[in-house]
Amino acid sequence: MQQPITAPKNAVIYKLLRQPRTPMTTVASLGVHILDVLGRPVTRIPDGQNIDLLEEIRFTVAGTAAGTAVDLAKLGVKVIAMGALGEDYIGDTVVGIMQHYGIDTDCLVRKKAVQTSATMLPIRPNGERPALHVIGANGEFSLDDICWDRLKQVDFAHLGGFYLLPKLDGEPAGQIARFCREHGVRTTMDILGIPREDMLSVVAPSLPYLDYFMPSLDEARMICGLRDWRDVCKFFLNQGARACVFKMGANGSVYADQNGVILRMPAFKVRVVDTTGCGDAYCAGFIAGLGMGWDIEQSMRLATAASALVATALGSDAGIVNLEQTIEFMNTAETLPMTE
Ligand SMILES: Nc1ncnc2c1ncn2[C@@H]1O[C@H](COP(=O)(O)OP(=O)(O)OP(=O)(O)O)[C@@H](O)[C@H]1O
Ligand SMILES: [Mg+2]
Repeated sequence: MQQPITAPKNAVIYKLLRQPRTPMTTVASLGVHILDVLGRPVTRIPDGQNIDLLEEIRFTVAGTAAGTAVDLAKLGVKVIAMGALGEDYIGDTVVGIMQHYGIDTDCLVRKKAVQTSATMLPIRPNGERPALHVIGANGEFSLDDICWDRLKQVDFAHLGGFYLLPKLDGEPAGQIARFCREHGVRTTMDILGIPREDMLSVVAPSLPYLDYFMPSLDEARMICGLRDWRDVCKFFLNQGARACVFKMGANGSVYADQNGVILRMPAFKVRVVDTTGCGDAYCAGFIAGLGMGWDIEQSMRLATAASALVATALGSDAGIVNLEQTIEFMNTAETLPMTE
């Protein structure tokens, strides 16, 4: 005779059903790799040679490719890092931290006679983060350094940090994006929008091959000179991106695609300590969501949760523990009002 299902068995099945699915996806995170040195709270540079005492100083692996790589790894995604480091202790530290998170670092190249890129970030009491940056090895990363064989096998390529990759900015980046499209690899791109004359020429060759163009709205505005987010979305869709996902700080984010779908997502309410890396975490959450087969709206929500968690502590890798905690936060946190 069939046994009745007992309560403990039910509990186990229920627990299994509630487990988040680990994203079974592989991502190449290609581009800017930086070691961030952050201190807080900083209100001034001390006079003369005086010392001010801080509450906290941290080292983190950061940058639009490396920061996203760490967040993706924390969310359970398999990541291959592609970028350039110097042959120095900073580079060793970046590799060590990435390996600690289980990231495949075999495709990171080490450049001679140039330091690993680094940023000093004196974080203000309100979470703002002025930055002092050395471009270093990122300036030497070129098409010759890319592991094409591995790139064509991944599910997603996240291209991160254009404007800080002088040997890849513009046409070479377009070649990478086109290669990904030809091999069925879905592409996301984030940038580090540094104001200059020819801003559009840096991203224009990539746009026709991008699945998701993911800068901040402010960066996108800088490139096209338009103000209203609807116009900004239209501009980049006309340039050929399949979809735009623009990050809007505490105002959340917006998605628009070639099929006319537009989604607005509010940010989550958190006590902000430091917003360094929120944009990188947003990209990680979005890709992790898509990798689990979630729809765009749910992927944006996971992205928003990951980015909000990063804002709650010092450094671009802070706040996110794992996928389960990020989903729990996503399902329980309050949202902020949207003002535009
Ligand atoms: N103050 C905040 N409160 C809550 N969420 C925030 C806040 N600032 C940023 N976020 C979240 O982080 C996401 C990305 O932040 P932001 O728009 O600043 O991107 P970004 O400028 O690309 O960041 P980064 O400087 O790290 O590249 C936002 O869409 C939002 O969900
Ligand atoms: Mg950004």
